[in-house]
Amino acid sequence: MIRIGLVGLGAMGRGHLETYARLMDEDDRVKLTALCDVDPKRFETQQGNLNIEGVGKSKIDFSRYRLFFDIDRMLAEEPLDMVDLVIPTYLHSPAAVKALDRGLHVFCEKPMALTPELCQAMIDARDRSGKLLMIGQCLRFWPAYEKLKEIIDNGSLGKPTAGYYARFGGTPQGSFEDWYLDESRSGGCLLDQHIHDVDMVNWLFGLPESVSTRGVNVNPGAGIDALSSIYRYPGMSVTTEDDWSLNGKDMRFSMRFRQNFERGAAVFENNALTIYPNGEKSYIPDMPADNGYYRELRYFLDRIIDGQPIETAPLESTRDTIRLAVAERESARRDGDWVAVR
Ligand SMILES: NC(=O)c1ccc[n+]([C@@H]2O[C@H](COP(=O)([O-])OP(=O)(O)OC[C@H]3O[C@@H](n4cnc5c(N)ncnc54)[C@H](O)[C@@H]3O)[C@@H](O)[C@H]2O)c1
Repeated sequence: MIRIGLVGLGAMGRGHLETYARLMDEDDRVKLTALCDVDPKRFETQQGNLNIEGVGKSKIDFSRYRLFFDIDRMLAEEPLDMVDLVIPTYLHSPAAVKALDRGLHVFCEKPMALTPELCQAMIDARDRSGKLLMIGQCLRFWPAYEKLKEIIDNGSLGKPTAGYYARFGGTPQGSFEDWYLDESRSGGCLLDQHIHDVDMVNWLFGLPESVSTRGVNVNPGAGIDALSSIYRYPGMSVTTEDDWSLNGKDMRFSMRFRQNFERGAAVFENNALTIYPNGEKSYIPDMPADNGYYRELRYFLDRIIDGQPIETAPLESTRDTIRLAVAERESARRDGDWVAVR
């Protein structure tokens, strides 16, 4: 039995709570026992406000769990095997280190932390504890992106030639103390929303030689709110874009990619992946029906149960993703100068 404490019941924490409800229905070895949030109102509000359709919107029966307002108290009083940290980014590293040092497995939302040094502290704590720590870089478990990685790795369309990865949406609203709009606490759009595509670039192709980024600030104090990056790889063109300042009333969050290969292309748009082999009819590949939020937690729990290390999102790799994002920010500060990454 894995006894779990979920920390943070904001927009994303509610999504995790829904996932645990399903996991507990499916598997009696999984038991969410405690919820923790510093804001007591989070235990009164029923509806979440995550910008992903169908996630974090169901009603919650809080009476099923022990409720805590302080993580130290939860760690001291509740018998747990694992904590799930769904709290603002500036808290990830200290909270993960604390829980690991208490001998617990830790799942922690993305981005890993605000700096490579804070990421390294998490790696050191994992090594000290011998427990598992995984960062929720959910695209590594998202069926369309997982399929793309498979196509790249098995070479079925030849070598990748040119790739474009992007996401767009509105400015985050209603977060805890508006932490998303404080660059010192969230890293801004660049380290928060854009980190998903930075992680894809790193996961699919490894770290580039260097990066050039241009970005703009729209929300005072929020850092870079919209940006474009170019990554230098031998013989391959890779670009990303992000913008979280699209605030039209009916503007929906969207993510997409277009990856060209020597013998075809893979295009992900409107939540659908299509493969276009050159000169042949396009097709939609078979993929798992579950989304990455469910699949990443299922994977993490299975690794604990089976006593296996984390292979899909190792900490050294998610730390490199932060290194790449920090290099992008440095480049943007220098108006797009190429910044070495490796
Ligand atoms: N994987 C994804 O697609 C995705 C999407 C959204 C958010 N996230 C990540 O999830 C995390 C949380 O984001 P969110 O949108 O839910 O933020 P949020 O502001 O909506 O929620 C954060 C919650 O943490 C609570 N909190 C703050 N300090 C705390 C503390 N010391 N102890 C306990 N609780 C505390 C707040 O009261 C709030 O309820 C962030 O790291 C974010 O980047 C990931």
